[in-house]
Amino acid sequence: MASRSTSSAPGKIILFGEHAVVYGRPALAVPVTQVHADVEIVDSARTGIWIQAPDINLHAELNTLPSDHPLASIIHNLFFLSRVSPFPSLNINITSTIPVASGLGSGAAVTVALTRALASFIFHPMTDDQINQFAFEIEKLHHGTPSGIDNTVITYARPVYFIKGQPIETFQVAKPFTIVIGDTGIRAPTKESVGDVRKLWEADKAKWESVFDKVSEIAKAARDSIERGKSALSEVEVRKELGELMNQNHTLLQEMTVSSPELDKLVEAACNAGALGAKLSGGGRGGNMIALVEKEKAPLIAEALTSAGAKRTIITTVFAE
Ligand code: MEV
Repeated sequence: MASRSTSSAPGKIILFGEHAVVYGRPALAVPVTQVHADVEIVDSARTGIWIQAPDINLHAELNTLPSDHPLASIIHNLFFLSRVSPFPSLNINITSTIPVASGLGSGAAVTVALTRALASFIFHPMTDDQINQFAFEIEKLHHGTPSGIDNTVITYARPVYFIKGQPIETFQVAKPFTIVIGDTGIRAPTKESVGDVRKLWEADKAKWESVFDKVSEIAKAARDSIERGKSALSEVEVRKELGELMNQNHTLLQEMTVSSPELDKLVEAACNAGALGAKLSGGGRGGNMIALVEKEKAPLIAEALTSAGAKRTIITTVFAE
């Protein structure tokens, strides 16, 4: 065993295709390195596994947590898989700047960072594919029917064009583009919005399959735009097209009932302030929205979001790899 190990994992945003991705349609997501979950593991002189996670007000020994607690299930499952017995005595410190239940992948980021730190502490090397697979199993324990996009983009920390169950595919970014992220400050568990979309789908599969098909066309067109641009179009025209695709995706998410008055207000404020397009990002009902902007207008649009009620804004650039 090592005497100390650390790991960090970024947040993420979904650019296109959330919810429809649960039904096998493609989605595009990118890491957001301005926010991250960080884990430090050190030997403990006290017997037991002591977890400090001040952001969720947790200071507890592993055995006092319910066995289905997300952090307990990561530790138990990883030690079980790696045949670690008896459990070592550890202090695990977990901090995160990713707001919880806000569409930025806080749960998956903690899972990935904690798994990597534990694996390295016990000298049990894991490839990114193994970390991703493990994190997906943990997501399934706690989030109902996730597609796996969150754990994938966070594990590999690069842009992904994701189709459930298919090997990881990245996408190229022909020209960097700027996104402003606005947080409604409203926490909304993804499990609930995913569950509600499932109820809609179960009640009228033909209708919702056709809505998901429309999202799929948007995600494919967006990838095309981001990767190559349309040769006949200028960069500005390509960005306008991408913004329009975002607006169309948001309308379909509204139809799925996963937007909210607060998200709609921020989307509208961004567009009124000159964004090229905007949409909610992630599970919806609260959490974050994103706006595609011209780089020089980003601070202005961030200000407009704050005036419209955003609790925090992040400006991020999506780069070519
Ligand atoms: C959550 O970040 C994205 C959703 O599509 C759920 C999932 O893909 O598991 C809403």
